[in-house]
Amino acid sequence: MPVLPATDQTIARAAAALTAGDIVAFPTETVYGLGADARDSKAVTKIFAAKERPRFNPLIVHVPDTATAETHAVFGAEARALADTFWPGPLSIVAPKRSDSGLADLVTAGLDTVALRVPGHPVARALLETVRFPIAAPSANRSGRISPTEATHVASELGEVPAMILDGGPCTRGLESTVVSVVGTHPTLLRLGAVPRGEIEAVLGHPIGLVGEDAPIASPGQLERHYAPQTPLRLNATIVEAGEALLAFGPDTPECAGMTINLSASGDLNEAATHLFAALRTLDESGARGIAVMPIPEEGLGEAINDRLRRAAKAG
Ligand code: TXA
Ligand code: MG
Repeated sequence: MPVLPATDQTIARAAAALTAGDIVAFPTETVYGLGADARDSKAVTKIFAAKERPRFNPLIVHVPDTATAETHAVFGAEARALADTFWPGPLSIVAPKRSDSGLADLVTAGLDTVALRVPGHPVARALLETVRFPIAAPSANRSGRISPTEATHVASELGEVPAMILDGGPCTRGLESTVVSVVGTHPTLLRLGAVPRGEIEAVLGHPIGLVGEDAPIASPGQLERHYAPQTPLRLNATIVEAGEALLAFGPDTPECAGMTINLSASGDLNEAATHLFAALRTLDESGARGIAVMPIPEEGLGEAINDRLRRAAKAG
């Protein structure tokens, strides 16, 4: 089995595999990533092949700190303010790519911008500090599937494809990073995620808009069929119908004869985000004919949770 508990030794082995041009799955605080040396187009090609990811969809480049990020992209005052506040952490910043960025063209899908992130997870940080090169890493799922928040999810999505899967336990955030573009005159949100919109607006000092699906393709990944379980989802359910499983939220849940998973019995949105993807996987595999999803408040992290649920409902 390529799943190995993350230790100093296995992290060193993973670093060696990356240095040799192989791909490795590793934990971050958001979701598990499938990493490759971002300077090596052959290695990056392996990521696209393993995920069956369309070549037009660029990858996030993971770096150890803001100074390194600025060797790949041009940061203005707003990018620096966001980096100072949220890095290390679950924010990705899309900025103009430097002509001497050293990144393989495939990483940015030929765009003149690049998405950068300084992850906070100790295993991801140790890996970056050991290899001393930028690591391109999308979520370690097959394209269009639910992102993995546990090492076993990666194994079931990608099997023996990565040279190894570093197991750092369940991801604490559970939602992908928020993607903000600082390209152009106004920063825009390209993807809702683990940093709530309100926290970004507090740093910028003004509201920030979310690029809609009908707007120009600012974030190609948002076009994909995404977060797709096989079982149909029914959102804002207040009762459970025959044959349905229940994805619950909060203390007062409707009666359900089938499987029930409560994202947070106390109604805590952070806890709900942490458990969301694992719960969707478990309910999807339960054999239920449908998944009834209780309403989740559209505030704070609830906005990103509802975004993922709406995509999952559309795809199912
Ligand atoms: O939490 C995360 O962000 C995880 C962990 C592993 O870091 N990674 C992740 O990567 O979710 P991925 O590839 O699944 O999603 C990256 C998103 C896609 O929607 C992609 O289109 C967008 O970021 N993106 C990347 N580079 C971009 C760029 N230059 N311009 C616009 N969007 C970009
Ligand atoms: Mg993804």
